[in-house]
Amino acid sequence: LKTGFEFKPGLEGVPVTLSSISFVDGKKGILEYRNIPIEELALKSTFLETSYLLIWGELPTQDELDAFEKEIRYHRRIKYRIRDMMKCFPESGHPMDALQASAAALGLFYSRRALDDPAYIRAAAVRLLAKIPTMVAAFQMMRKGNDPIQPRDDLDYSANFLYMLTEEEPDPLEARVFDICLTLHAEHTINASTFSARVTASTLTDPYAVVASAVGTLAGPLHGGANEEVIDMLEAIGSVENVRPYIENCLKTKSKIMGFGHRVYKVKDPRAIILQSLAEQLFEKFGRDNYYDIAVELERVVEEKLAYKGIYANVDFYSGLVYRKLGIPTDLFTPIFAISRVAGWLAHWKEQLGENRIYRPTQIYTGTHNAPYIPIAER
Ligand code: SDX
Repeated sequence: LKTGFEFKPGLEGVPVTLSSISFVDGKKGILEYRNIPIEELALKSTFLETSYLLIWGELPTQDELDAFEKEIRYHRRIKYRIRDMMKCFPESGHPMDALQASAAALGLFYSRRALDDPAYIRAAAVRLLAKIPTMVAAFQMMRKGNDPIQPRDDLDYSANFLYMLTEEEPDPLEARVFDICLTLHAEHTINASTFSARVTASTLTDPYAVVASAVGTLAGPLHGGANEEVIDMLEAIGSVENVRPYIENCLKTKSKIMGFGHRVYKVKDPRAIILQSLAEQLFEKFGRDNYYDIAVELERVVEEKLAYKGIYANVDFYSGLVYRKLGIPTDLFTPIFAISRVAGWLAHWKEQLGENRIYRPTQIYTGTHNAPYIPIAER
């Protein structure tokens, strides 16, 4: 090949950019956001503070955080025209499609584009971080035939999202666990949806189109959609005794076991370790059910069978158990992944603007040349 680079399916192991936003060591199971280990942020930070860190590169001072949180609170309400647009969405549609449509629709309200203006970048980041949860919650309420619930100023970001889903104020532990889940899912170097965000950002389109591209990519079952499939799998298995036969059948039919394996991690995903402890806290306080026992047995059997291939539980394996215990419907698990990953996509959008070079890779051509055009009568 003229460029001298070897073809790698799925760009496996191919660096596509310089970035200082996050770091993953797949062999040691390390994840850091802006140089800080994920365990530190999960334990000591909040999702909004972590979002600020990811996008602007520094932990905010108290004043900066207060101002940021105030702006987010101010922009949380749903646009009435987007609410009215959602009234035409089929109730049977998947919430990820509703989210992708709504994120793109936000761009209709902010057509002035000033990508070199820090104030424009901050305004877009605030609007997307503030409105994405509200739009997810609004679709959930509307597909049940109810009006969207307006955000409450006295509730913080995560408590407010759970409130807008159920109209009940969540238990402080539930809100804190949910907030940690958002921090854990916020950023993960150049995964498929973040790569989509960077490619889209590189054409200098608007940030709403960037997020809409990324939402569409995250929706796939091999990426963000896995957490929803994990619960379906636990339901299908139904009991601890059924785990081994189920796994053996998966291996026989060479079908992928959802929530396991990773392009980078060849040990247990550090986020899965934290999510497992969050699940245990929730089961401790709100009562256990056999899903957790099935999951633990499932992880044990998969490790026995596939650890030699470096296949371990990933972030999607326990996240579904946590969300289910919080009473969240399974088809909202991936939209929740999107609510969180918007922080990472925005950080990469901003970093890509600094690169200012459009993505345009090449290919290895496998066709022929100079073929004749066959008239339709002769085909
Ligand atoms: C996320 O990139 C990111 O960072 C993503 C993410 C993020 O934060 O953005 O971490 C979030 O998307 C987590 C992954 C969620 N997806 C799933 O849980 C779906 C199931 N996982 C697999 O589809 C798979 O592991 C991928 C997609 C995650 C990674 O696939 P790769 O790197 O392309 O690996 P592969 O398909 O080439 O598999 C290598 C081998 C194969 O066996 P052989 O053909 O070599 O014998 O491992 C096997 C695969 O069959 N394998 C699995 C498996 N994953 C890989 N076998 C059974 N079950 C699995 N889950």
